[in-house]
Amino acid sequence: MSELVQYRRDGHVGVISLNNPPVNALNVSRGLVQGVLDAVKEAEHDPAVRALLILGTGKAFSGGADIAEFGRPPVADRANLRDLVAYLDTVSKLVVAAIHGPAMGGGLELALACHYRAAQTGAQLGLPEVKLGLLPGAGGTQRLPRLIGAVNALGMIVTGDPVSTERALELGIVDEILEGDLLKTALACVNRLLREGRAVRRSSSLVATPAPEGAAFFAAERARIARDQRGYPAPLACLDCVQAAVELPFSKGVQRERELFQGLHASSESSALIHVFFSERQAAKVADVPEDTPASPIRSAAVLGAGTMGGGIAMNFANAGIPVRILEQNQEGLDRGLAVVRKNYAATVAKGRLSQAEMDRRLGLMSGILDYKDLADADIVIEAVFEDMAVKKQVFQALDAHCKPGAVLATNTSTLDVDEIAAMTRRPEAVLGLHFFSPANVMRLLEVVRGGASSAQTIATGMKLARTLKKVGVLVGVCDGFVGNRMVHAYFREAAFLLEEGALPQQVDRVLETFGFAMGPFRVGDLAGLDVGWYIRKRQAATRPANQRYSVIADRICERGRYGQKTGAGYYRYEAGNRNPIPDPEIEALIIEASQDAGIARREISDEEILQRCLYQLVNEGAKILEEGIAQRASDIDIVYVFGYGFPRFRGGPMFHADTVGLPEVLAVVERFHAAQGEFWTPAPLLRRLAQEGGRFNPRG
Ligand code: 3HC
Ligand code: NAI
Repeated sequence: MSELVQYRRDGHVGVISLNNPPVNALNVSRGLVQGVLDAVKEAEHDPAVRALLILGTGKAFSGGADIAEFGRPPVADRANLRDLVAYLDTVSKLVVAAIHGPAMGGGLELALACHYRAAQTGAQLGLPEVKLGLLPGAGGTQRLPRLIGAVNALGMIVTGDPVSTERALELGIVDEILEGDLLKTALACVNRLLREGRAVRRSSSLVATPAPEGAAFFAAERARIARDQRGYPAPLACLDCVQAAVELPFSKGVQRERELFQGLHASSESSALIHVFFSERQAAKVADVPEDTPASPIRSAAVLGAGTMGGGIAMNFANAGIPVRILEQNQEGLDRGLAVVRKNYAATVAKGRLSQAEMDRRLGLMSGILDYKDLADADIVIEAVFEDMAVKKQVFQALDAHCKPGAVLATNTSTLDVDEIAAMTRRPEAVLGLHFFSPANVMRLLEVVRGGASSAQTIATGMKLARTLKKVGVLVGVCDGFVGNRMVHAYFREAAFLLEEGALPQQVDRVLETFGFAMGPFRVGDLAGLDVGWYIRKRQAATRPANQRYSVIADRICERGRYGQKTGAGYYRYEAGNRNPIPDPEIEALIIEASQDAGIARREISDEEILQRCLYQLVNEGAKILEEGIAQRASDIDIVYVFGYGFPRFRGGPMFHADTVGLPEVLAVVERFHAAQGEFWTPAPLLRRLAQEGGRFNPRG
């Protein structure tokens, strides 16, 4: 039997323990699944055994099929999960699953194939395959509707969201709750069931309760999913399977599930989503900061500046239960900032997503201050004052003077040099950048900017803080714009050149939205506000080389007072109270005039060219960032883009997308644009090298 499974007899109970840390992934190639099957058979044929108990060791029942095995050739002589659950349906002795921690995907499917399920409080039960572009492929789509009805099962399978033990009991996934030591209480439960003479109840033999509306329910859900989950084939396939559970006998339903699973398993969307799953976890790791590096405990925090970013950053701490002080220049600034925070929480309460008591508790964790002396006990301070080096320098000198030794000092700057800021203190090792994205209480990305002097402990604290605040922390180095904004700058610049050459905002936006972005670049610009970039460009004008290509379109739009949605007009116009962009002839005329002034003859630009020029600017800049060591790995760049910039998750991020297209093909297109467009298309040396070597940005796992 595999070392990943332990089997022993306890009285009349054959106890099978999954032992594959950290989450008891149901590995096939190393023999875990075969080991469980062997143990089941051994117990079944042992006359002393009257019932079987399956449980997990460590922190989980099971996180499901071993995702790392996906995409690898199947192992012929080893049982897979489908074999195991099919066999369990033939076992005539009672089989009980005792669940603690996560029981996800194939893990829950294994439990569903048992005859009785008991779970500890705190377990999470779910079928999250859809989040990996898959569907539950080991009978879950057929068993769950038979246990809890089509409507509830569809909800769980299509969202992939897990339910708690209590909810699982209410739904009928779980038969009873275990309180206390897992093994002891589970054995007591099995022995009691034996004493009661409990009959075997197979989920495969039950009949799924249909929706009250019958087939109309599935038709309506199908339309909703097709609209809301554009680009994702898995949710619709999940629906097909649940419908099959209602309409077909179990064996036929399982067959349908298998066919649809195989299609999804081979899909590019699933490969991309699995890449995102592993990349998100990989991003937490820093090559030269070992995982056991002690992070400074963060028991209290302070934020400087109660503006757009400061208020949102402070909310993150309060949401995590950490007291946070907010320092402003004067009482008026404080009142204004805290009023916005209160309004944000109140909106969440109004939507029913937060209780009034919880809102009050969180607000109670925030306090406004005006004096640096009140920062003395903060474990971390995050500065979010004006984006002005002189102001930041003053602020960091004051922080150095007032903060306790050991405090971490962070800046939320988006464009300024973190090292120059750190040099204002006598403790540059305690300084780093924590670059939040707007709105800071919503966006999950956090760029953790490593300064030249940042210590391992400071970095470890920043990365751990990301987890505490439920953010996805990505380590980046110091450069203009770090990873995300540096790349997006190249993307916006190229989009503007496309306008100059012949495209219109609505065409560019449509192409990128068809690719999968929630919004194209010009809609994003109008949403974010065009004035911010305008001020930055004005500041940079003096240092811009005279012979460098520059599009004046954005500046001219701003000169007309069109700053985007907030002024009712930008690249598009907007009707009062409506965020729908309306193409504007005034902008078309402005763009045509800009082309004439630049001496460019406008031409028809294909959708393909628009897509390639926008995406490959991201890829080429990403390759430079990687080569310069600003990002640790290509997958970190993908995570920045998926979590911070709305890059379609089902495409895996810009670097993964380039790998999928093939780097020789990407390089050939970049070279073509270089010949036609000049300096901004100089191929990144890393792209050239990898393309020539047949390599990839993301090495195959
Ligand atoms: N396969 C392989 N590795 C897995 C895994 C899985 N199913 N689930 C988790 N891991 C790994 C993670 O990559 C991570 O590895 P690392 O330490 O090297 O980075 C480690 O286990 C710990 O994972 P987390 O950091 O996510 O730990 P948490 O405690 O925060 O969460 C969890 C645990 C809730 C189980 C979470 O990991 C999770 O949601 N896992 C994925 C669940 C899933 O999608 N299951 C479906 C798989 S597909 C399937 O079952 C197909 C079947 O229907 C046929
Ligand atoms: P903001 O102008 O909305 O807020 C700045 C706040 O800082 C104001 O309330 C101001 O009164 C206060 N302030 C100024 N000097 C101060 C001082 N010496 N002490 C205390 N408070 C002071 O600016 P915003 O947008 O919040 O930006 C703040 C920082 O965050 C900047 O560095 C910016 O580059 C960065 N950032 C901004 C993002 C955005 O989308 N707005 C995104 C990511 C980072």
